[in-house]
Amino acid sequence: MTYQVDIPKRYQEVNTECLSELKGFDLIHDFLFHARYWKCTKYKFDNSEGWTDQAFRVLFLGGSLGTGKTHTLCAIAKAYSVRASCIFTTAFDMMDYILKEKDSQKYKDTSLLIIDEMGRAFESEAARNRFFDLINHRYENQKPVVFGGNITQQQLANILGKALTDRIKTDYRKVFLTGESKRG
Ligand SMILES: Nc1ncnc2c1ncn2[C@@H]1O[C@H](COP(=O)(O)OP(=O)(O)OP(=O)(O)O)[C@@H](O)[C@H]1O
Ligand SMILES: [Mg+2]
Repeated sequence: MTYQVDIPKRYQEVNTECLSELKGFDLIHDFLFHARYWKCTKYKFDNSEGWTDQAFRVLFLGGSLGTGKTHTLCAIAKAYSVRASCIFTTAFDMMDYILKEKDSQKYKDTSLLIIDEMGRAFESEAARNRFFDLINHRYENQKPVVFGGNITQQQLANILGKALTDRIKTDYRKVFLTGESKRG
């Protein structure tokens, strides 16, 4: 791995091959890894090779308990961090850090920000303001974000609020993992 990314112990051995077995693989792949290919189809560029993270794209990975969301997010983090910087975090850990340290720079700077366990941690007004500032900064600086969690799109929209929901709608994709819990 070229870039250091902190992945929780349980998921450290995650194999990035699992991404190709996903139903939403094409979408995730084009969205995150073949940005230029995606731009190609949209803006008719000639060069379909290459890779860039310079776009504000938002991917939402949803699904019920135990369907493999965190596993998949960690695989994305591993795959992405070969090419560019990436942070994998939970919403709670991230907001806890930002509110305690009064500093969200590292979450603004990283090429890809992956936030798991969306749903908690946005209760206070201070948290909502900080979160708006962070995501708005990434929007303005064209840096992608991945949200994961056992929440509905409506719940995600409620957390983001109207202004952020409006900002993400152009380059927004969603993948829902289905089936039984993979926990034995
Ligand atoms: N594609 C996979 N291959 C092998 N093991 C997997 C795969 N997907 C998930 N698992 C394993 O199944 C278990 C549950 O997966 P995971 O924790 O990612 O689910 P989750 O959707 O994040 O659950 P929750 O909603 O409770 O957060 C984990 O032990 C994980 O390592
Ligand atoms: Mg999980």
